[in-house]
Amino acid sequence: MAHPIPHAGPLTLTVNGASRTIEGASPDTPLLYILRNDFELNGPKYGCGLGQCGACAVIVDGQPTRSCVVPASVAIGREVTTLEGLGTPTALHPVQRAFIDEQAAQCGYCLNGMIMSAKALLDRNPYPDDDAIRDALRYNLCRCGTHFEIVKAVRRAADYLRAERAHESER
Ligand code: FES
Repeated sequence: MAHPIPHAGPLTLTVNGASRTIEGASPDTPLLYILRNDFELNGPKYGCGLGQCGACAVIVDGQPTRSCVVPASVAIGREVTTLEGLGTPTALHPVQRAFIDEQAAQCGYCLNGMIMSAKALLDRNPYPDDDAIRDALRYNLCRCGTHFEIVKAVRRAADYLRAERAHESER
């Protein structure tokens, strides 16, 4: 016989700038499950489910966060950003554009986490050196071994973002 979910009730989260509520959610449910299964946001990936690979990374209040090991309740009252909140296929975010321009993907499974970690880094440090980039991505695993291209992509993304900011300040 199935056991009732403890403390299940409405759960409201702010994801990609929009407030969304689901009914009957347990606050202990990992944030990743709510995002993928209830909100149908499939940018964050299920990799290890143990907080070790980074494929599930989202940004919560500016911090890269492993959504597979964080209870959804932790995100209540905070801003959650997923890959879908960055850009669209016709209007890519500069970080996404840089990863494509550097051909940084092989299988692509890790890229959600790489891009979200890079975005969080570049939001707080527009001039990261290679050590800072490697440090920001140190918990994101890539089994294909495209780390060299990924670091180059983050460098390129920093260039794109700085150029964008300079262009905006000239307007
Ligand atoms: Fe979350 Fe691997 S799936 S860290």
